[in-house]
Amino acid sequence: MSKTNLEILREETSETHNRLDKAIMARNPFADTTRYGGFVQMQHLLHEAMRPLYSRADLAAIIPDLETLGRSDATTADLEDLSLPTPVAELSAPDFGAMPLPKALGALYVIEGSNLGAAFLLKAAKALGLSETHGARHLAGAPEGRARHWATFTTALNTLDLDESGRADLAEGARTAFDYTHKLAMHHIAA
Ligand code: HEM
Repeated sequence: MSKTNLEILREETSETHNRLDKAIMARNPFADTTRYGGFVQMQHLLHEAMRPLYSRADLAAIIPDLETLGRSDATTADLEDLSLPTPVAELSAPDFGAMPLPKALGALYVIEGSNLGAAFLLKAAKALGLSETHGARHLAGAPEGRARHWATFTTALNTLDLDESGRADLAEGARTAFDYTHKLAMHHIAA
């Protein structure tokens, strides 16, 4: 049997995700609220760049409730909670809104998947006195629970039938999203 879209994405991005986790945590973004502020600014720019994905009709036809899932409003509120300015986008972002469907879906996998790891990051943010209602809103789980939301998302992700070039595009979109995240993290979280 051929691989599912999720299996392809996992295989193709596990190394880059691992590198990103390590690079972010090496910068100690949860050591104090100042360092955490850089992390939120990075997350804000990432979620803003991804925002156009959530209003795409082609993705909405695959992913249930797509328009409700974006978290850039949460990162905006987190910045306000922390009295931080909206960061200036100094790095040029990939045009996620204009990507062909398989690439866009690969990028959406990255940003939605980041909410799984966010369970662990939220705990670290709570140690700084922050919460799902103050300063760490974007790390909150989906109302139905992270695992349940992820199961719904990945089931939908797997329904798109792709040929070989579509599968390559799916993985490419995810790698593009991870690469941009990595660049943003290195730029905005203090070394
Ligand atoms: C904005 C940065 C990040 C992005 C874009 C991201 C992306 C992802 C993606 C796509 C997944 C889903 C993998 C899958 O099951 O297919 C995931 C899961 C996960 N991430 Fe990240 N991640 C980020 C930051 C982090 C950081 C900093 C950590 C912690 C050091 C982390 C820890 C995890 C863990 C533990 C899981 C698996 C959770 C589970 O299976 O319950 N992530 N992340």
